[in-house]
Amino acid sequence: MIVVAGSANIDLVARVAHHPEPGETLLASGYAMHQGGKGANQAVAAARLGAPVRFLGAAGDDDFGDRIVADLAAEGIDADGVQRFPGSSGIALITVDEAGENRIVVVPGANGELDGSRDMAGAMGGANVLLVQLETPTAFVNAALSAGRAAGAEVILNAAPAAPLKAFEMTAVDWLMVNAGEAAFLLGEREGASRDQTVDQAARLARQYNIGVIATLGADGALWIGRDGSRGHVPGRPCTVVDTTGAGDTFAGAFAAARLESQSVEDAIRMAGVAASLSVGAAGARAGMPDRAAVRATMGD
Ligand code: RIB
Repeated sequence: MIVVAGSANIDLVARVAHHPEPGETLLASGYAMHQGGKGANQAVAAARLGAPVRFLGAAGDDDFGDRIVADLAAEGIDADGVQRFPGSSGIALITVDEAGENRIVVVPGANGELDGSRDMAGAMGGANVLLVQLETPTAFVNAALSAGRAAGAEVILNAAPAAPLKAFEMTAVDWLMVNAGEAAFLLGEREGASRDQTVDQAARLARQYNIGVIATLGADGALWIGRDGSRGHVPGRPCTVVDTTGAGDTFAGAFAAARLESQSVEDAIRMAGVAASLSVGAAGARAGMPDRAAVRATMGD
């Protein structure tokens, strides 16, 4: 069982020719509302690949909250661990430009009410893999990380959106998952201009926290540095980009699904990369997330 502890949002998406400059008003060419939130997206990505998934998160007592819970359940995810709070659900205001690149502002809403007070140990029952992001309050993240470690799960922390790691229970983490920009941010540096620079940054993060690090590199694939000293790079695959929103979430959820199946780290990264490359072919965070058959067909299995 994969347990995902994280955020759930409703994404309000405007399609634009280019992202607005400060002070600029733009007319969008299209608008859509999608399910989103890094945690819920990752849960869906894993579930689409056939993994049993439990989601721990929050929704408001509004109509959006009902939709968040109903959609998770429709994906076959155990959503009993979604706490409902008075007020608004999480909202993400997103612009996507012609290249499929996004800008995202998150209004946490109910996600911001999560804390460390719930029965995390109980919620981790049967957890083999735990997946956590940084889009929920620190106390909630740390309670999940500690409970996941205590339950003996493989603990994966996707440091998105990036925040200084010193506030988090890094001794509970097995794998830190970041993109190149996040890796640089966590070290207080500029994003590496080359893969070698990101390798170096990932290696320093791995040493600093005594953990494994996976760095996603967009079209260049992903690399890993293992706690055991192993390291490698899996190339990206050419793909059609409509919307990159949720690509990192698809990668994380697919990686977790592969690890649940005891795939090697390299094989898990390969499967996650294929899933992420397919996810960017449709508008919205989840519309392009593939099922197992689509991933198999693409991998030629
Ligand atoms: O990673 C993409 C997600 O970030 C969006 O779905 C949005 O809700 C924000 O959480």
